[in-house]
Amino acid sequence: GKGIAVFTSGGDSQGMNAAVRAVVRMGIYLGCKVYFIKEGYQGMVDGGANIVEANWASVSSIIHLGGTVIGSARCKEFRERDGRLKAAKNLIGRGITNLVVIGGDGSLTGANLFRQEWSSLLDELLKNGDITKEQRSKYKILNIAGLVGSIDNDFCGTDMTIGTDSALHRIIEATDAIVSTAYSHQRTFIMEVMGRHCGYLSVVSALTSEADFVFCPESPPPEDWEKRLCEKLEQERTAGQRLNIIIVAEGAIDRNGKPITAEQVKKVVVDNLQQDTRITVLGHVQRGGSPSAFDRILGCRMGAEAVMALMEATETTEPCVISLDGNQAVRLPLMECVERTQAVAKAMADKNWDYAVELRGKS
Ligand code: F6P
Repeated sequence: GKGIAVFTSGGDSQGMNAAVRAVVRMGIYLGCKVYFIKEGYQGMVDGGANIVEANWASVSSIIHLGGTVIGSARCKEFRERDGRLKAAKNLIGRGITNLVVIGGDGSLTGANLFRQEWSSLLDELLKNGDITKEQRSKYKILNIAGLVGSIDNDFCGTDMTIGTDSALHRIIEATDAIVSTAYSHQRTFIMEVMGRHCGYLSVVSALTSEADFVFCPESPPPEDWEKRLCEKLEQERTAGQRLNIIIVAEGAIDRNGKPITAEQVKKVVVDNLQQDTRITVLGHVQRGGSPSAFDRILGCRMGAEAVMALMEATETTEPCVISLDGNQAVRLPLMECVERTQAVAKAMADKNWDYAVELRGKS
């Protein structure tokens, strides 16, 4: 059977375990030898006990767990060719030439580079006497299937990334709790939510929690936002509302690209309206805890499809990313999706806000 390895990389997200489980079980079902690589790319570079064969039972009772049971890391060494050479040696040693990488765009880009260099890495290993001629020819192709695990929903090409739905549930639970205490005291609350460069969590949580105002990275507010914010809050209070909720994405910026922080928004509200105002930073609570049913199923479907893609790969098959498109699991060219994702970042860096929003809408 083929040698497949699965690993999780970058920030964890709920539903990664469901995906790992599906890869292991679908792989075993199809007669493959399936390996875990623990601690992401770091484990691949370090080898040894970090790369272990999985069996059917080793993924029992993990579907309901948050985080990633096989660990994740941000690995500097893999960014250097030397690190990738060590990783290649460790994979060849176990007959692994199929990888399922579960991570964000950085992790997927790293996998693509690894695949592009594979041939020259093997040549170097052969030259150094680290692999045999037989291994060089037997393992000449590295196949890659990527799954996007991130609470941010920041990857172009898939409707939802694994973890986003659970993070939203967590945010909504928290905003509902805040609303009840805010109501009692007629307070204004500023909730900071995650999402780094992507406004999905902030915008969807604002819509679903009846927030009065939202600050998100791709669509900075107009120059006179302070005035508009105060007018809006005042208007709601005049209409009889006892509280205000403002959602600030951690990566919120103004039209000059300068951060807009929760503290800054609080100061505007307090100075102008003298409202009793508090800040709640949700932080990593959003990324932890058990995955929603949606993320469990998403992880299962994506993981199973990734194994199918690897089984069907030929010498000329390019790395793919498994995406959700209108409730269908589809395979898309990995680099095309990475490039589309990077185009959003570029539009934001260029302060081309309309284009950034347009690109996000298409993703
Ligand atoms: O990309 C996922 C994410 O949770 C972002 O929303 C957040 O900005 C970042 O990771 C936090 O990273 P770390 O856990 O390394 O502090």
